[in-house]
Amino acid sequence: MSSATYILDNALDAIGHTPLIRLDNIARQEGLKCNLLAKVEYMSAGGSVKDRIAKAMVAAAEQEGRLIPGKSVVIEATSGNTGIGLAMVCAIKGYSVIITMPEKMSLEKEATLRALGAEVVRTPTEAAWDSPDSNIGVAQRLQREIPYGVILDQYGNINNPLAHELTTGPEIIDAVVSTLSTPSKPSSEKVDVFIGGAGTGGTITGVSRAIKAHNPKCVVVGIDPKGSILALPDSLNTADQGAAYVVEGIGYDFIPQVLSRADVDTWLKTSDEDAWTAVRSLMRSEGLLIGGSSGSALSGTLTWLKTTKEGQAMAETVGANVVVLLPDGIRNYMSKHWFLEMTNAKASPLSGVISKILESSSATKSPQE
Ligand SMILES: Cc1ncc(COP(=O)(O)O)c(C=O)c1O
Repeated sequence: MSSATYILDNALDAIGHTPLIRLDNIARQEGLKCNLLAKVEYMSAGGSVKDRIAKAMVAAAEQEGRLIPGKSVVIEATSGNTGIGLAMVCAIKGYSVIITMPEKMSLEKEATLRALGAEVVRTPTEAAWDSPDSNIGVAQRLQREIPYGVILDQYGNINNPLAHELTTGPEIIDAVVSTLSTPSKPSSEKVDVFIGGAGTGGTITGVSRAIKAHNPKCVVVGIDPKGSILALPDSLNTADQGAAYVVEGIGYDFIPQVLSRADVDTWLKTSDEDAWTAVRSLMRSEGLLIGGSSGSALSGTLTWLKTTKEGQAMAETVGANVVVLLPDGIRNYMSKHWFLEMTNAKASPLSGVISKILESSSATKSPQE
């Protein structure tokens, strides 16, 4: 059911219901015979996959009587997108919000949070997760002192993976199942592979649970940036452990409680450089205005399809549905160095032609003009 066919009560109803879009141009360039499909989450009202958990965590806390309109102050440690989702939900419902966020996260996220009325506290990026100075530590310190302060805790809140098990996963399954196979667009009519990055791990855990119930043979691939420790086996993490990575929203220095690594079949590590290359390709070949971790997800997808035995077999299977989740959009990163470098990179073939035309037309201009 498309939310666009009804008058919505408020922006909360415009959370989720995101499209599943064929990446046919990239599939062709990469020589893939399978269907490469993207779940495009920047089209959710707040701009990311995390809107869904913000809505679910607030609704559950209201039901439990933990939130009192006009009194409660929602405090949350985030890499930004959960904060934006919470600030949006709380703007509508009338709760104050304080977001604690590492320095590394973009200015755009801070500006969006402030636009929605949230307070933002920056914390040192290098602070370990269990230090009192980390975004988690500062949120806890604030909560102890602020009357009616409530931490919904995306790292431990069951409603985080549950929101994806009940919405993101079923939306993907519905789209795949209701798009019947045709000679020009063959389909197995099931989800054969799901690939997503992990931050808290809520997305990959919840989507995996929904999709494995639909197709127990579906392969779930987790993407973890080099420098993070979420991947299994642990040996994948040792070479780059502790190394800094620029990509935002994925990777951690601890295993969040809501990440069930048993629900992920295999992991891949990705680099910032590979992510930026994939971002450019999604923009230039598919017209999708996605953010950095979407690049990580696509670069991991292509690596899996090209370098692993299981992936190569899938890439050769006509009609197999390989779904990659793209968590947020470029709105969050437009002042970031990696994005500016990408847009300023080498002049396009047309720019030389334009200069020549403008130079010669200004030279031939008559004085009256
Ligand atoms: C941009 C971005 N990508 C990916 C993720 C990972 O999602 P999850 O926390 O569900 O693992 C996040 C989470 O904040 C994010 O902000």
